[in-house]
Amino acid sequence: TPRDADLDETTTIVDPASLPLETRWPPFPLRRLGGFWMPESLLPAVAALHASFVPAPNDVLLASFPKSGTSWLKALAFAAANRAAHPPSDADHPLRRRNPHDCVEFLEMSPDEHTGADIAVDAASPPSPPRVLATHLPYSMLPKRITGDDGEGCRIIYICRDPKDTLVSFWFFSKKMAATMAVDAGTFTFNEAFELFCDGNCTGGPQWRHVLEYWEASRRRPGKVLFLRYEEMLRRPASSLRKMAEFMGCPFTASEEEAGVADAIVELCSLDELRNLEVNRNGTDVLGLKNESYFRKGIAGDWRNHMTPAMAARLDKIVDDATRGSGLSL
Ligand code: A3P
Repeated sequence: TPRDADLDETTTIVDPASLPLETRWPPFPLRRLGGFWMPESLLPAVAALHASFVPAPNDVLLASFPKSGTSWLKALAFAAANRAAHPPSDADHPLRRRNPHDCVEFLEMSPDEHTGADIAVDAASPPSPPRVLATHLPYSMLPKRITGDDGEGCRIIYICRDPKDTLVSFWFFSKKMAATMAVDAGTFTFNEAFELFCDGNCTGGPQWRHVLEYWEASRRRPGKVLFLRYEEMLRRPASSLRKMAEFMGCPFTASEEEAGVADAIVELCSLDELRNLEVNRNGTDVLGLKNESYFRKGIAGDWRNHMTPAMAARLDKIVDDATRGSGLSL
């Protein structure tokens, strides 16, 4: 059996073909690296990231397990960071013309744009507003230059979501991705996805380990890692946004509050607002996937429509057992 490998610091990642392989979750094959299942196609980009990414001192990195509310977090952080140049009321605000994923890109998905000298920012003259980037990589797979084990590191905002809703969201999304890539996922049932998810064998999985690593980092370095919950953001979006803005170093001023800027950003980034924009109804992303795929129900508890109580209890127990003693309750 191929051996799971740890990620080497300066990373020439070992030959991907030597790592354990998972092909049952369409549309793409996964390889296990450092205890996580990662898309095989991403591994060279992870290596490139380790080799050459240089964060700027005021960078903010949005981190998430897929299908946890990344698009929403990107929209909110982008709108907050860039509100001086682009007030949320602007008719041609970037978020009204571009999908959130085109406003804040994943570090690991465009290695040519986001690694190497072109992204290295002179530390002596950091840009203000903060540059906002994103990642789905586990904390332990991030370069030390980002996590701060090797210098200052950047600020990280993590969004976590109930694993059961994450799984449901992921299953629907995978089918759309498969259709785009002309991979036949017609026979991929929810029950199969459930079994794989419970075993941790899905992109970025095990989900609870992904969450736990960022949770622990947020406890160790509260000034550097902000841990948010999707469900809490649904309940109180404006206060979540204020917390984010403060953490990012751009808190809302009294006059902005008086002018209702935070509420206007929440409104601009709401599911209904984003979903109904022309770019998100009819546009496609870099992978050819329809932008509408990123906006579905956007609620807490949709798992009840797809899982039996026994399935839910089984997944809850796996997660509880794995996170016991950490102070994290998922
Ligand atoms: P559902 O499939 O449960 O509806 P990600 O952005 O990480 O891919 O996560 C996608 C999930 O976030 C989807 O969940 C999607 O509907 C939801 N979502 C997308 N935009 C949102 C927004 N503006 N507000 C709240 N939820 C949003």
